[in-house]
Amino acid sequence: MKRTDSIVIKTPAQLDGCRRAGEKAADVLRILCGAVRPGMTTKALDDFARDTMEALGCRSADFGYYGYPGQTCISVNEAVIHGIPKDSVVIRDGDLVSIDITVSFEGFVGDNARTVIVGEGTPEKRAFVEWTEEALRAGIAAARAGNRVGDISHAVETVADRHKLGIVREYVGHGCGVDMHEGPEIPNYGAPHRGPVLREGMVICIEPMLTLGSRRIKTLKDGWTVVTADGSLACHSEQMLAITASGPAEILTPR
Ligand code: MF3
Ligand code: CO
Ligand code: CO
Repeated sequence: MKRTDSIVIKTPAQLDGCRRAGEKAADVLRILCGAVRPGMTTKALDDFARDTMEALGCRSADFGYYGYPGQTCISVNEAVIHGIPKDSVVIRDGDLVSIDITVSFEGFVGDNARTVIVGEGTPEKRAFVEWTEEALRAGIAAARAGNRVGDISHAVETVADRHKLGIVREYVGHGCGVDMHEGPEIPNYGAPHRGPVLREGMVICIEPMLTLGSRRIKTLKDGWTVVTADGSLACHSEQMLAITASGPAEILTPR
């Protein structure tokens, strides 16, 4: 996927726009996660997302992005990211459903994602979802002015390694806000103290994409849906945040 390379340091007015777009993206994600039921198709969930965005006064930034046909990305079980919503994909009890919501609101972009278990799931699935959240939290904790992108990457990788999870390498976190994808790229693995320095006014998305098996992926014939090569389960969690002058980052997509 093409990306804008440039890092945009946001002005206070732009930060405010990012904040408002982030809130919309978080609202839509929360509503969607609460609406997942066994028997629903991912297309039905996507239709509901369109109605929800309309009601909240925002619109999908995904739709039409390099020709993307959905309003959202919904990736079930072995699907990692960019799952095109389909009539043929029926959500079942125990499934891992990853929902990624990217909205445009008043000229700014908000992006966030989460994996939910349908029903109770198994202890293994519950642990997997929690480990992915733990990896995201570790990345967020490293997102401080003066640190480097590699510190975030390394923090995520350390948690994933501790739990013996596969780390997808082909897709990464990114700057966000004015465009969906801005610099810098934020890999979920890497050496600490390397890469671009994090500065106040940067808005980034951290998004671990982890598997219970091999880190290898392939793309389905639909041209978008990324699945694990070995069919193992995948989890994806994403938050958008702003680097502050000092102290922890400001979460722009509150849960
Ligand atoms: N939300 C995704 C991200 O986290 C990108 C969406 S891809 C699209 O970067 F094709 F659906 F737009
Ligand atoms: Co996203
Ligand atoms: Co993203």
